[in-house]
Amino acid sequence: MKNLIDKLFETQNLLPEEFKQLIKGRTSDLAQYLFEKSRQVRFENYDHDVYIRGLIEFTNYCKNDCFYCGIRNSNSNADRYRLTQEQILECCRSGHALGFRTFVLQGGEDSYFTDDKLVNMIRAIKSLYPDCAITLSIGERSHESYQMLFNAGADRYLLRHETANNEHYKKLHPKNLSPENRKACLFDLKKIGYQVGCGFMVGSPYQTVDNLVEDLIFIKELQPHMVGIGPFIPHHDTPFAGQTGGTLELTLFMLGLVRLMVPQVLLPSTTALGTIDPMGREQGILAGANVVMPNLSPTTVREKYMLYDNKICTGDEAAECRFCMQKRMEGIGYEVVVSRGDHHSLQ
Ligand code: 5AD
Ligand code: FES
Repeated sequence: MKNLIDKLFETQNLLPEEFKQLIKGRTSDLAQYLFEKSRQVRFENYDHDVYIRGLIEFTNYCKNDCFYCGIRNSNSNADRYRLTQEQILECCRSGHALGFRTFVLQGGEDSYFTDDKLVNMIRAIKSLYPDCAITLSIGERSHESYQMLFNAGADRYLLRHETANNEHYKKLHPKNLSPENRKACLFDLKKIGYQVGCGFMVGSPYQTVDNLVEDLIFIKELQPHMVGIGPFIPHHDTPFAGQTGGTLELTLFMLGLVRLMVPQVLLPSTTALGTIDPMGREQGILAGANVVMPNLSPTTVREKYMLYDNKICTGDEAAECRFCMQKRMEGIGYEVVVSRGDHHSLQ
């Protein structure tokens, strides 16, 4: 099996059967071998730098009803909020002072935020902080909308594909959401010129090893700039409340594989990983990740953006998370840098 990791390291690709063999037959020894390689590749591309992104969760209204998500439309227990433009700009102000040079505007699919409102917001942030990148993470929209937001100055877009397998996708989402449209959005965003991030949950209900292989092959095809991978964690007010969550071990293994397959990719060590293990984010970095996304949302709304149970950092101020993250990264020999942290093909 080590020969398969060597092959992936050397050629950045494997046959589907080979990926399957690796994932199915993984052991802790093999994982250690993988992480040595994935860390080496990470080091060659990004040194020991860790890029930080300031996450602003600006609305938890969502018209969708994804079965796994705590802010799904039918969760009547979710306490809904929207940040005003002033509140968002205040997050950016404090974030900029803390050394953030990327702001990630993330929210549910909330029709209150029309193209006009978002264009104004993006322009305002860009004129106040021209040295910063703006990442949008606001779901599926029309081509025209994506184009307008890009023209207004948005640089990047995160839209996890969630699972590349169409049948699996339908087990995680209601009928009105289509895997074809999801993937079409990603290709469209890329064509418009965004730096694009896709991604998936590890251990989501009904996921098979074949599905994970399909995720890898989809990533190879899309060639995204970023890939968000985190464990599925059940939320008590969703149809998946009683399902088992994804493991740290498999999530780390997938991070390592993605680093070898797409060497320059921007790979976050996610909050979900930190939620299932107190050292999860550190271990994600040591498996090849190079990005962390501390929260900049006002503490008053933190607990309301609950995609899954027990989410960490909901009681911490932006500054606390920023410095906590710096200490955590220094603790494992890595360094948080003040930079936009663009993909290396764009620097
Ligand atoms: N567990 C883990 N991740 C989740 N997400 C949504 N709900 C959950 C959950 N229960 C992820 C999805 C989404 C991203 C914003 O959060 O992958 O794309
Ligand atoms: Fe938020 Fe440690 S990163 S408290």
